[in-house]
Amino acid sequence: MKKAFAIAGLVSVSLLTAACSESGSGAENGTVGISMPDKSLERWEKDGNNMVTELEGLGYDVDIQYAQGETQTQSEQIENMITKKVDALIIAPVDGSTLSDPVNLAANQDIPVIAYDRLIMNTENLDYYTTFDLVTVGEIQGQYIVDALDLDNTDESFNIELFGGAPDDNNARFFFEGAMNVMQPYMDEGQLVVQSGQVNFNAVATESWSASNAQTRMDNLLTGHYSDEDIDAVLAQNDAIAQGVVSSLVSMGYGSDSRPMPIITGQDAEVSSVNSIIDGNQTMTVFKDTTALAKAAASIVDAILTGEEPEVNDTESFDNNEKVIPTYLLDPIAVDVGNYQEILIDSGYIDSSDVE
Ligand code: GAL
Repeated sequence: MKKAFAIAGLVSVSLLTAACSESGSGAENGTVGISMPDKSLERWEKDGNNMVTELEGLGYDVDIQYAQGETQTQSEQIENMITKKVDALIIAPVDGSTLSDPVNLAANQDIPVIAYDRLIMNTENLDYYTTFDLVTVGEIQGQYIVDALDLDNTDESFNIELFGGAPDDNNARFFFEGAMNVMQPYMDEGQLVVQSGQVNFNAVATESWSASNAQTRMDNLLTGHYSDEDIDAVLAQNDAIAQGVVSSLVSMGYGSDSRPMPIITGQDAEVSSVNSIIDGNQTMTVFKDTTALAKAAASIVDAILTGEEPEVNDTESFDNNEKVIPTYLLDPIAVDVGNYQEILIDSGYIDSSDVE
C-alpha cells in the first residue's frame, strides 16, 4: 500500500509520527540519513557535502555514509540507519536494482525515501526522485559532436567511437538513448562511422564508469581499428570515461599538430576534466549543478517532514517497474573552453585556484 505521507494533500498520522520520531540525536527537526555510492568520483563527495550543508541549514541532523561502490555495503548501511530511526532517507544507489529490500524496510517504519540522481527500481515504496533530465544530457553530448564536426554543412564522413556508462546504472541507458537520438541519423547517412561496429549500449557500456576500463577499451579500439586512419570523435558519457579515453589517445600519439585530439564529450564538470578542457584534451563536459540537486533533495525531505507537498515537475517519465515516481528534474548545461569561466568559475561552483 502507498504510504500516507506520499499522498498529495493528506497529512496523516504517519507523517506526524515520522516528523516527531526519535532519532536519538536530539536534532531540532530530526535526522536525515544519506546513503551515497562511493568516493571514487569527485562528484559524489561534493553532492554529499552540499546535502549536509542544506539539511543542517534547515535544522536537521545528518547521518551520511558512503558505500565504497559495494551494493551489499550500501544495503547494510541503509538498514543500519533505519535501525537508528532516521526520519527520512536520501539514497544515491550504487546499483538501483539492488535496493528494494532496504527501501521496503524503511516503508515499514514510515521512513520516506528519496532517490538522488539515480532511480531505485522495483519497489512501490520509493516516494520521490530528483535528478537531471537524463535524455537531455545525452542529447547535449550528441549535439555537441554534430556541431563540432559541422555535419550539417559538409558531406565528409568522420570516425567516432561510443562509450556508455555503467550497465548497472539506470541513468546510463537514458544518456545513451539521448546521444543516439541525435547521432543515429548521421550514422545512417554514413557521416558518422563507427569503425569497430560497436554501437549497442551493451557493447559500449563501461563497467563502474571507470576511467581505467575506458582506457583499456580505447587502447584496444585504437590498435584494432585505427592503425590506418584517425579517430575524429568519442562519445564519452562522463568525465571519468573521458579521462580514460584521453590517456589512451595521448599514449598513442594524439594531441600533436599532426594528430589532433578528437572531439571528446564528458559529464559532471569534475575539476580534472575542466583542467583537461582548458588544456585542449577533453572537449566538453555536461555540467549538472549538484548544489541545486542537493537543494532539491533537501527541500523534498523538508516538505515531507513538515507536512507540505513536495514540489515536483515530472510525473510521467520515471517508472521504476512498480510505479511512476514523482520527480523533480533539473537542467544540464554544455560547458567547453568558451564558457567554463562564466558557468563554473564565476558562479563559484569551482574555485578559480583549482583551475590553471
Ligand atoms: C550517473 C550520474 C552521472 C555520473 C555517473 C557516474 O548516474 O547521473 O552524473 O556521475 O553516474 O557516476
